[in-house]
Amino acid sequence: MTRSSSPPLLSVRGLDTFYGSSQILFDLSLEVARGESVALLGRNGAGKSTTMKSIMRIAPPRHGTVAVAGQEVSRLRPDQIAHIGLGYVPEDRQVFKLQSVEGNLRLGMKKGPQGRDDWPLERLYELFPLLAEARHKSAGLLSGGQQQMLAIARALAGNPELLLLDEPSEGLAPVIMDQIQALILQLRAQGMTLLVAEQNMRFCLDIASSVAVIDHGSIVFTGSLQEFRANPEVASRYLAV
Ligand SMILES: Nc1ncnc2c1ncn2[C@@H]1O[C@H](COP(=O)(O)OP(=O)(O)O)[C@@H](O)[C@H]1O
Ligand SMILES: [Mg+2]
Repeated sequence: MTRSSSPPLLSVRGLDTFYGSSQILFDLSLEVARGESVALLGRNGAGKSTTMKSIMRIAPPRHGTVAVAGQEVSRLRPDQIAHIGLGYVPEDRQVFKLQSVEGNLRLGMKKGPQGRDDWPLERLYELFPLLAEARHKSAGLLSGGQQQMLAIARALAGNPELLLLDEPSEGLAPVIMDQIQALILQLRAQGMTLLVAEQNMRFCLDIASSVAVIDHGSIVFTGSLQEFRANPEVASRYLAV
């Protein structure tokens, strides 16, 4: 038996998640290694957001475990989970519309694991020059793309080791989508580990190092980007292509 090295940054095992009496996730397992960018691809209603919410314990799973860097977090509250290095950008972005851009960023600020503080305002503004320009503007006055940027920047302000992005391309014009994509690539280049849920395969494949496909609440494929590309029947069967 080969001795395993350090555990994956995120390890999700056997999740069963229900809304009321209807089961949404079925024995769902997923791993994200440090430095990797995993695309969680699936059709509308496949269970992508529920997977993200289960990891963040907003939709706590009935069975299964979530571990971050080998530490079981299944018993922690969402606010405690935030301090162990998970940054979550929900589907609907949830910026504080009446607060300024900078106010939103300040509200997101907290130390990461081991007291890490890698994302001062200056670094955030360097990565998001549009937010620097709009720093005193109410977040509610930003465009959809700018709000998406703000939501990502606010998550970074919490010094995450792993960033969970739920459909970052949703509802954005193609040119804005390209900007968000370029930004995610920059984050990858800076060593950020990512789990990105998407319906939009084209958007996602350019930023992914590996792919997990979800259908009806179950993972039906996992593999490297190369393996996914070598199996086009996976996309034609499970994704709207
Ligand atoms: N709050 C909820 N209550 C009941 N059912 C829900 C709720 N949220 C989502 N669902 C159902 O769970 C399934 C998965 O939804 P979701 O995780 O949002 O999928 P995706 O993000 O892949 O579009 C869908 O059938 C959806 O209708
Ligand atoms: Mg969703």
